[in-house]
Amino acid sequence: MDLPRAVGGSAAGGRGRYGWETRRLGAGVTMPRTRDVGPIVLLGPPGAGKGTQSKRLMERYGIPQISTGDLLRDNVQRGTELGQAAKAIMAQGGLVPDKLVCDMVRERLNQPDCRRGYILDGFPRTAAQAGWLDALLEEKFFDNPRPTQAMPIVVRLDVDYNQLLLRITGRRSCPSCGRIYNVHFQPPKVDGLCDVDGTALVARDDDRLEVIKPRLEAYERQTRPVADYYERTRRLVSIDGDQPMDKVTERLFSIIEDNQA
Ligand code: AP5
Repeated sequence: MDLPRAVGGSAAGGRGRYGWETRRLGAGVTMPRTRDVGPIVLLGPPGAGKGTQSKRLMERYGIPQISTGDLLRDNVQRGTELGQAAKAIMAQGGLVPDKLVCDMVRERLNQPDCRRGYILDGFPRTAAQAGWLDALLEEKFFDNPRPTQAMPIVVRLDVDYNQLLLRITGRRSCPSCGRIYNVHFQPPKVDGLCDVDGTALVARDDDRLEVIKPRLEAYERQTRPVADYYERTRRLVSIDGDQPMDKVTERLFSIIEDNQA
């Protein structure tokens, strides 16, 4: 997919395809949450900022973040059959089998909150998952040609290897509200406690150094070809993810809103 040129993305704002105001990111600026946004795919290595940016997209557009990592961790915690199958693989930094992940994603996409659009965070991650998603969206598109069921906007966050290591080892998150922090770049106001609800922050099990390497290797071996596939089919937009969070967010908003114009 070729992304159309910028139309509504100036600082002054403009009017998008669906008649709503499009404006560059500004503190407190909210977008109408009734319009179709469509599927958004965020690609990038572990620690690139997919989860951080997904939450900001979710807030701005009122569409859900579908993080396959979060869904799998939830299954592990609840001890479901899927969780039991995924637990050891995730602990070693490998990828959970495609069939299990695709079934889980299909179920999630069928929920009504995905009707206006959704953000896929960490999916697709293999060539088979990308092919499965294309087929699913094509099938849905012909069934009911809503813009939300059209081909996704695919964005990859590119981040330097050493920066990734710092981001992953410094990450802490709130087990209660899900807010993500970083001891190096985005520390909480009170050491170890969530700014929002005061819950003690935790580090993820797979953020240990010995698991980070296989996770990054899995990305290079299995997920980089997915980005190459989207690039070959002219559907990939890359963002310099080494920039400060707000800059990355601003660029993401403009890609999405220009695509709506
Ligand atoms: P998953 O949970 O998807 O993890 P991941 O892809 O490894 O990505 P991360 O969550 O580590 O990083 P992120 O890009 O979200 O970064 P974040 O925003 O947190 O997957 C976990 C496991 O589940 C996989 O290993 C696999 O086993 C399994 N799995 C998941 N999906 C699967 C699938 N589709 N198929 C098969 N298996 C699957 O940011 C990181 C840190 O950096 C934070 O502390 C943040 O504060 C900081 N930060 C973010 N942006 C910036 C910035 N611009 N500047 C400075 N700091 C920043």
